[in-house]
Amino acid sequence: MDYTQALKKLAAAGQEHVMRYYEELSDEQKALLLAQIEATDFAVLSSLQGGKQENVRGVIAPLAAMQLPQIQEKEGAFRAAGLEAIKGGKVGAVLLAGGMGTRLGSDDPKGMYNIGLTKEVYIFQRLIENLMDVVREAGAWVPLYVMTSDKNHESTVGFLKEHDYFGYKEEYVTFFMQEMAPACDYQGKVYMEEKWKLSTSPNGNGGWYSSMHKWGVSQKAMADGVEWLNVFAVDNVLQRIADPCFVGAVLSGDYAAGAKVVRKCAPDEKIGVMCLEDGRPSIVEYYELTDELMNAKDANGDPAYYFGVILNYLFRVSDLEKIREKKLPLHIVEKKIPHLNEQGERVKPEVPNGYKFEQLVLDMIHELDGCLPFEVVREKEFAPIKNATGIDSVESARELCRLNGIEL
Ligand code: UTP
Repeated sequence: MDYTQALKKLAAAGQEHVMRYYEELSDEQKALLLAQIEATDFAVLSSLQGGKQENVRGVIAPLAAMQLPQIQEKEGAFRAAGLEAIKGGKVGAVLLAGGMGTRLGSDDPKGMYNIGLTKEVYIFQRLIENLMDVVREAGAWVPLYVMTSDKNHESTVGFLKEHDYFGYKEEYVTFFMQEMAPACDYQGKVYMEEKWKLSTSPNGNGGWYSSMHKWGVSQKAMADGVEWLNVFAVDNVLQRIADPCFVGAVLSGDYAAGAKVVRKCAPDEKIGVMCLEDGRPSIVEYYELTDELMNAKDANGDPAYYFGVILNYLFRVSDLEKIREKKLPLHIVEKKIPHLNEQGERVKPEVPNGYKFEQLVLDMIHELDGCLPFEVVREKEFAPIKNATGIDSVESARELCRLNGIEL
């Protein structure tokens, strides 16, 4: 793309200010900027026209979860079915590690955070230790696909390599990168990170499967016989990955997907809950949960929307293929965006100063025909690290590790 073409593209999107420093740039920087403009999809910014709006939801109704007593009753059969699939190489695991982890406040990728007290225990290490339990039980390696982003790819790959994948077999670890989206101010003008670089941020965790495809990774997985992918977040250090019981339950019920859920600890807990939306499985975010839904009861008199998702989903690959090209809803998220100020100086804001655009994995569930909400014991499987202190923090996760006998 040359200068004139770039200017035309920017003008169409109302972003001509991006060229403000062009004359000052070296040839190399000019080329970098032009290439970035060519690669950037400015269409996301048009979703801001008329102000930031919430996505419109359909008719919400309860969706029953498979609860602990039911699971315990069939545990033997579920585990056997799950282990058979894992042994047959049919189950892969996808670690979503492309996020920025801004709330935690570390400059490194979240997985590189050391939660140890008496020794080094990195978040990546904890996750791999959990997955190793299954590898040992099944006597088979589970292919592990790690999604990174432009912001953390090199450090993530370098860190895991340097630590010898914490005992995981290198040939079973594959990396791929997610896409980026422009980040803008409240008026919808893209921020500049450098005079030759637009501010961008990872485009959310919802594009994981299409990114996996763009990198040729899903094609290879399918050729290797992988039929199921267990997608999970980097920040839950008690995360059970490729859990044979969960895998077996989803497979036995012939569902397109399964979602691990926990019983909410309070009606207003900030966690998305499973439901039906216009008759299809879906997830209502906590901020979309009206008082009426929060207090609704099911036929047994139990709270109707009480099972929250913990970002651990199992997807049938053949169904993912059917929805690969689908456009998921775009979420506009207020964030702190480092940028160049009017004087061209670098600023790292203390408070949110604009919007990022994200697609979310939870929206994939609504595209599928069936999803099994599968209850797990929250104290055993849910220790998210979002913040440095307080709720869902390094502190709370450490305490949960201690309660589960994990030495830190
Ligand atoms: P979060 O929603 O907690 O976002 O991600 P985050 O970027 O990690 O953290 P904050 O909000 O800036 O503090 C949930 C999971 O989704 C992954 C994260 O790495 C984490 O595993 N994720 C998130 C991606 O892989 N890509 C993204 O673009 C966003």
